[in-house]
Amino acid sequence: MKILIAGSESILARDLMPVLKENNEIMPLSKQKMDITQKDSAIKNIKTNAPDIVINCAAYTKVDTAEEEREKAFQVNGIGVQNLAIACEEMQIPLCHISTDYVFDGRKNKPYTPFDEPNPLSVYGESKLAGERYIQWIMNRFYIVRTSGLYGMGNNNFVMTILRLAKERHSVKVVTDQICSPTSAANLSAGIKKLIESGSFGIYHIADDSGSGISWLDYAREIVSIAGVRAEIIPVTSGESPRPAKRPAYSVLDTGITRLAIGYTPEKREVALKKFLSTALHRPAEQ
Ligand SMILES: NC(=O)c1ccc[n+]([C@@H]2O[C@H](COP(=O)([O-])OP(=O)(O)OC[C@H]3O[C@@H](n4cnc5c(N)ncnc54)[C@H](OP(=O)(O)O)[C@@H]3O)[C@@H](O)[C@H]2O)c1
Repeated sequence: MKILIAGSESILARDLMPVLKENNEIMPLSKQKMDITQKDSAIKNIKTNAPDIVINCAAYTKVDTAEEEREKAFQVNGIGVQNLAIACEEMQIPLCHISTDYVFDGRKNKPYTPFDEPNPLSVYGESKLAGERYIQWIMNRFYIVRTSGLYGMGNNNFVMTILRLAKERHSVKVVTDQICSPTSAANLSAGIKKLIESGSFGIYHIADDSGSGISWLDYAREIVSIAGVRAEIIPVTSGESPRPAKRPAYSVLDTGITRLAIGYTPEKREVALKKFLSTALHRPAEQ
């Protein structure tokens, strides 16, 4: 397949492209080459490259800043996705789009299935839901993939941030009352590959297997323990450590339907984390 990747410089795309490259032709487009908020540019790029499918990794992902930049968040995560959906529909090709557990309000207290009703608590979550809705209003053939707590190459993720803070400060405060299902970009990439080869269009959840979920606190403790870093991880509540954007208290993703539809069995979180750290800790520091 010829696969066009929008947002080719994202954390996800950096893991996804090598996975897809094995038996596909990849056309990576960075924000500089294709700003998805520019409708004419999006349509022109997709027409000129004539891919068999577009995967959208481009997004506005600054969850807290979005509270003050509502329009910017909606411009990228809503209108930008609408533009891609229009272009793909015109070309009669599917779009694979990545969304988030933050479309849910966290009140369910059981893992969320794709059939649960979204009710975002933050501007970021609302804007991501807008993108999902545009795709469903415009397109016939699409994959929407919701994931959670993504980490991958580079230093801009929870795993590497905890390790950096643990080394710098020897004690780190982490919230204990938000439960999620962290996911390695390598595993998400493998799931996306399986999904786009399946033709089983729809909304899917792909996350590593954390059972009924893990708190960010326990996850941070797991990270320092596996990395062999001595640091105190101190529990705080969301109330004690307020952030501009509200997060769901419980946003574990149920991957059961993904397993039934495409045979994707998620890897255990601890196994994925160990694999990631075994290479990440030996990689030269990024500039
Ligand atoms: N990270 C997580 O924990 C997490 C969790 C759940 C779901 N997700 C979803 O997973 C997907 C990938 O996330 P990620 O963490 O890999 O994202 P990321 O690293 O923040 O990358 C997003 C990319 O999109 C680019 N971008 C922003 N505006 C754009 C525009 N108008 N046109 C084209 N590109 C644009 C950004 O470029 P600039 O940096 O130059 O602006 C950046 O390279 C996103 O859809 C995100 O919502 C992420």
